[in-house]
Amino acid sequence: MDYQAFVEEQIASIRKTVGQGLAINALSGGVDSSVVTGLGHRSLGKQLKTVFIDNNLMRKDEPERVVRLFASMGIPVDRVNARTEFMNALKGLTDPEEKRNAITRTFYATVFGRLVRETGAKFLLHGTILTDIEETVAGIKRQHNILSQIGIDPEKEYGYQVLEPLKTLRKDGVREVARVLRLPGEITERIPFPGPALATRIVGQVTEERLVTVREATAIVEEELGDTGAFQYLAVLLNDRATGIQQGKREFGQIIVVRCLHSADARTATAAELPWKKLHRICERITSIKGVNRCVYDLTPKPPATIEYI
Ligand code: XMP
Repeated sequence: MDYQAFVEEQIASIRKTVGQGLAINALSGGVDSSVVTGLGHRSLGKQLKTVFIDNNLMRKDEPERVVRLFASMGIPVDRVNARTEFMNALKGLTDPEEKRNAITRTFYATVFGRLVRETGAKFLLHGTILTDIEETVAGIKRQHNILSQIGIDPEKEYGYQVLEPLKTLRKDGVREVARVLRLPGEITERIPFPGPALATRIVGQVTEERLVTVREATAIVEEELGDTGAFQYLAVLLNDRATGIQQGKREFGQIIVVRCLHSADARTATAAELPWKKLHRICERITSIKGVNRCVYDLTPKPPATIEYI
């Protein structure tokens, strides 16, 4: 596929659709939304307002890092504090689909609805990719960023039209587009990170305390596995507990699962064969996190597993 031609076609199409109007897009710092931000900015310049919605579910230092990185490319990003709204929406929820649904609603209806009203934007640029659509349609998962594909009319329901310029591509294609747009390697080579963020890495309730735990584990895993060249690596906080010993006392502690996967496009994946030394170091660091006394490495391929736990 000629990605240069793809980019030119998408730019022309975005310009034609938006005309003299105003578009808005949310940047999470992941590959897909970063590429949409680059593509949208190239197409629309000042007619595109990019926001970073701080949902309290991000990785360590992520909001600052993302805003700084895009500022260095001349793309201004507004940071919007929506922490309370997301935490309130997730309160008491344990079912994976209910959690995803709460995030979708809070993101599109509450927070975006407000921003759209404030800015008068009529178009939303979104980084939906083909894998998201296929898995939603197949009923495997309700990806947070799918609207029209699941029968919601965003114009009627939320007052804006959604543009999805990457919807025919998989992750490898999105990375090709990033290269055409000359986005820095810090973005293109980043491992995928889901839109619902750390909420997909917590089985059971999402609380401030559990977020602190999984955020810390995520930072360790990303630090330790950054040199593996794997497609994706992550830490998941389980809802189960296990007995252990902490400072000479029995403790019914928390369990973190580590995943490190090879994959071309996230449709299938296999666990990476990691050196014992590395696994031991990860285990040692993760079990040093307060309240965590077990760390396990998940060998399950996709299928039958998925990459994430919810
Ligand atoms: P699963 O867990 O379905 O994940 O094997 C496949 C790929 O998609 C990512 N993922 C998401 N990305 N919104 C996203 O933007 C989501 O809701 C979402 N859920 C999973 C996951 O990290 C993996 O790369």
